Amino acid sequence: MIDKIKSKLRSELEVKLSSIYNQEINVVVEEPKTTNLGDISIPVFSIVKAVRKPLNEVVDVVIEALEQSQVYSWFKEVNRVGGFINLTFDRLVFAKEVINEAAAVTSFKYEIGKDKTVCIDYSSPNIAKPFSVGHLRSTIIGHAIGNIMEKLGYKVIRINHLGDFGTQFGKIIYAYLNYGDKEKVDENPIEELVKLYVEFHELAKENPEIEDKAREIFKELELGNPEYNKLWEHFREVSLQEYMKVYKMLDVYFDSYNGEAFYNDKMQKVVDELTEKNLLKKDAGAMIVDLGEDMPPALIQKSDGSTLYITRDLAALFYRKNTYDFDEVLYVVGNEQKLHFEQLKAVVKKMGYDFYQDIHHINFGLVLQDGKKMSTRKGKIVKLEDVLKEASSLSLAYINEKNPCLENKEEIAEKIGVSAIIFNDLKNYRTNDVEFNLEDMVNFVGQTGPYLQYTSVRISSVLEENEFDDKNINFELFMSDHSFDLIKTIAQYEEILIKAKNEYSPSVLAKYLLNLASYFNTFYAKEKIMVSDEIERNTKLTLISIIRNILDEGMKLLGMQVIRRM
Ligand code: ARG
Repeated sequence: MIDKIKSKLRSELEVKLSSIYNQEINVVVEEPKTTNLGDISIPVFSIVKAVRKPLNEVVDVVIEALEQSQVYSWFKEVNRVGGFINLTFDRLVFAKEVINEAAAVTSFKYEIGKDKTVCIDYSSPNIAKPFSVGHLRSTIIGHAIGNIMEKLGYKVIRINHLGDFGTQFGKIIYAYLNYGDKEKVDENPIEELVKLYVEFHELAKENPEIEDKAREIFKELELGNPEYNKLWEHFREVSLQEYMKVYKMLDVYFDSYNGEAFYNDKMQKVVDELTEKNLLKKDAGAMIVDLGEDMPPALIQKSDGSTLYITRDLAALFYRKNTYDFDEVLYVVGNEQKLHFEQLKAVVKKMGYDFYQDIHHINFGLVLQDGKKMSTRKGKIVKLEDVLKEASSLSLAYINEKNPCLENKEEIAEKIGVSAIIFNDLKNYRTNDVEFNLEDMVNFVGQTGPYLQYTSVRISSVLEENEFDDKNINFELFMSDHSFDLIKTIAQYEEILIKAKNEYSPSVLAKYLLNLASYFNTFYAKEKIMVSDEIERNTKLTLISIIRNILDEGMKLLGMQVIRRM
């Protein structure tokens, strides 16, 4: 709401002033750092400089133009302070607009994404390898961006680009056939396959010839050898089953699980097109696309004819463009693949497609534990399922301390634990590293997921006990600072979602929710809700129910669980 008022003011003033001064005038409309200066501020220095007239005269002209603005009625006071014009909202007008509109904010889809499609490539773990904490970040961030864009009206296609192809399968198949144990693999697929893979490398140190054997197996797999293909399918299947457990816990889903292998028969077309367009160069037997001075060349085909990660990504990209006709495609992948996506974009540009501009690498930082990179150390795998379970059991301990008689407490603890992990990730701007400390993140106080859930639960318990009529309220009661802070924050919701989308960062929404919750808690500490006056009670209950709805919807958009008791 505030952004809308600001941009309306700006555009109206620019038109007016440009015509008065007969030259193009740029106007800045900002929010002052401290609220005692008003709610909106217009610095006039740059206008004074542009028109070369005395400050006072310019301020007069701008104020006169302001008075004719369509949004002038929103303001109660106009003050000149040096080179600034400060405007203060008429709280009554403002509160009325916001509250009337807010009753609906959580129930409709916004328009900005109407008729637009976005493909989001996220999670995308590698078959027969553990689901890493990096994949967890990708899953959480990608899912939240998808939800936010859906709320903004976009059609969202969620794609899990499984890493289900590549030379490692030659090695795993070799190892499995020569010293694998079928039963063990079936029981504990990923762990056992990783072991086989590690063992292969140990063996290869002494017997380098097995590397050639593995390469041969992979080559045959590519050519469709039925025995190898069957094994590959089996490994893919059992791995996916493991990942599904994680997705289920996180309540994450995809529209497509087409992984790299899906593009095996779609790469030749890309290679042909690159050849036709004269973009492929031979380089020591391999085929590359030269990308000039700024970037190393993209390696499209190895000397033995096998294709690479980027070749599969090119095929996937064209497939997505043809299948979904996206307006944007997002790749939620860690910082370490920055170059890969720059190359992908550069190749598409060289091929002459404008949509290279719609390709976005949504990069993110590392997960740290005690300041160090959290990793899957040799032989010891941090199983995500275990981490999620641990978060739940810590939450359960917390509940046992605070509210031991709570019904269904195990189920609730799981919802708190998982949401705590999600929120801990999303409250940080995505390119920053995230500190992973389970005990801190399940805390009910502080900047945590449980704190948000707890705030919503508090409001819910008040609302559950009391009926109210949101038509019979008195807007005068929203005039106090602590009420008006809430009204202003409610008014920002749509803008916050748009900002989160523009930056592809759910942290914008996460921080907003923390703010909203903290303003609520201040309000709740200062105001008695269950007063005897009916209108006053209605007014307060209306306000807190709007807050609760935004909190709940915001949490859901982030991928968190909403609960009613804890
Ligand atoms: N499987 C890859 C990895 O774990 C991520 C794939 C990301 N998506 C893509 N289209 N390249 O590193």
